[in-house]
Amino acid sequence: MTTTTTQKNIKPAEGKLGVVLVGLGAISTTFVAGLDAIKKGRTKPFGSLTQTGTIRLGKRTEHRSPKVKDFVPLADINDIEVAAWDIFEDNGYEAAKKAGVLHTEDLEASRTALEAMKPMKAVFERDWVKKLDGTYVKSGKTKMDLANQLMDDIKNFQKERGVTRTVMVWCASTETFAAPTDVHKTLKDFEKGLETNDESIAPSMVYAYAALKLGVPFANGAPNLTVDTPALVELANETRTPICGKDFKTGQTLMKTILAPGLKARHLGLNGWFSTNILGNRDGEVLDDPGSFKTKEESKLSVLDTILQPDINPDLYGNMYHKVRINYYPPRGDAKEGWDNIDIFGWMGYPMQIKIDFLCRDSILAAPIVLDLALFMDLAKRAELRGIQEWLSFYFKSPQTAEGLYPEHNLFIQETKLKNTLRYIMGEEQITHLGNEYYGM
Ligand SMILES: NC(=O)c1ccc[n+]([C@@H]2O[C@H](COP(=O)([O-])OP(=O)(O)OC[C@H]3O[C@@H](n4cnc5c(N)ncnc54)[C@H](O)[C@@H]3O)[C@@H](O)[C@H]2O)c1
Repeated sequence: MTTTTTQKNIKPAEGKLGVVLVGLGAISTTFVAGLDAIKKGRTKPFGSLTQTGTIRLGKRTEHRSPKVKDFVPLADINDIEVAAWDIFEDNGYEAAKKAGVLHTEDLEASRTALEAMKPMKAVFERDWVKKLDGTYVKSGKTKMDLANQLMDDIKNFQKERGVTRTVMVWCASTETFAAPTDVHKTLKDFEKGLETNDESIAPSMVYAYAALKLGVPFANGAPNLTVDTPALVELANETRTPICGKDFKTGQTLMKTILAPGLKARHLGLNGWFSTNILGNRDGEVLDDPGSFKTKEESKLSVLDTILQPDINPDLYGNMYHKVRINYYPPRGDAKEGWDNIDIFGWMGYPMQIKIDFLCRDSILAAPIVLDLALFMDLAKRAELRGIQEWLSFYFKSPQTAEGLYPEHNLFIQETKLKNTLRYIMGEEQITHLGNEYYGM
């Protein structure tokens, strides 16, 4: 069975694309240095689906598998201009040095591009990130004033750098755990809350509000609530702006959403999954605070339940014990180590174990996600897709979905969803993998 649509009306990717990053830390500086190295031909865009991925079109016998970037009209990476806000005044080179992700030779090779990244003053409240005390912070009487200042920053950036379109990606620290309150129910309530400095409006929400008001797509790389509230979804729909989140899917959770679907597909049972990490970067330090850790923990824990569905598979997954630990351990810097001990069982209930020891590099895994999200969110906007972009759940630990809908965590379903969305907007057949056309049926 195939489904065809007519191609959506997609505006061309003319002119420059502005990418405004909230936070100029490990991920942002690794993104900027990598982008510079790719533009200058010093490396290839490894890990980026938009740059190296291919997409099958039509039947397998047609042998049509263009590159994603040749199939959909994405912005050219040479047309990307980047700016960032941070609570510290360090330029991108200084921030990258402190983050300790990149080798000296890579830092020096991208020094000019990194030094050009001079942060804009941030919107910040210590109550929301207890482990940091930034000094490079805007002041304003109300949160609405601060949102207006952010909008001015964006407009100035657009004018100075001559960008025609802009997207915002949250790459700043994880805020403390927060559940939605009355102020998040409607846009009217939220705007009133901005005027009256409602304490449940986090800095990340002020940034998101500023972006959405200007029609700038917003992607949330951290697990903060941010745009995952009815009020900001309403604003996104009203201004016809795409949003997506939450929490980049990188190290351990990426592995979990690769492995768990396989166990489930083969009906292997699971008694327990214990995950622990050591990491020593600033993100690790921020997550050492119980409030920020709770935000992250919620994001990481939901994954197994939705993949394994213990409610409909009680014999296999009804008694599983899932634990996630994050330990701040400074000597490691950004070179995280994640261990998983997985207790599974098979035929006749015989137990088996899987051990994973993933020596990963958080920011190296996250940087291509920033690139892909920036390009896909810009595409979504030009294709007139608005509100929650669930097809980008491929990139997130805790995908934002419509209210009442459970998220899809299985990486392979997420990949299919993403590629089918690209086929859909280009008016190509959806691929169902039924395959009966090859057998004369
Ligand atoms: N690296 C990964 O693999 C990964 C995966 C998923 C999510 N994340 C999340 O992405 C975010 C960034 O990660 P990182 O490793 O780059 O962290 P980082 O600590 O190196 O950088 C975050 C930067 O944000 C700044 N900041 C904090 N609050 C701010 C505010 N209100 N406005 C502007 N700047 C602010 C900090 O000063 C810091 O420079 C974190 O929230 C992290 O949890 C990271």
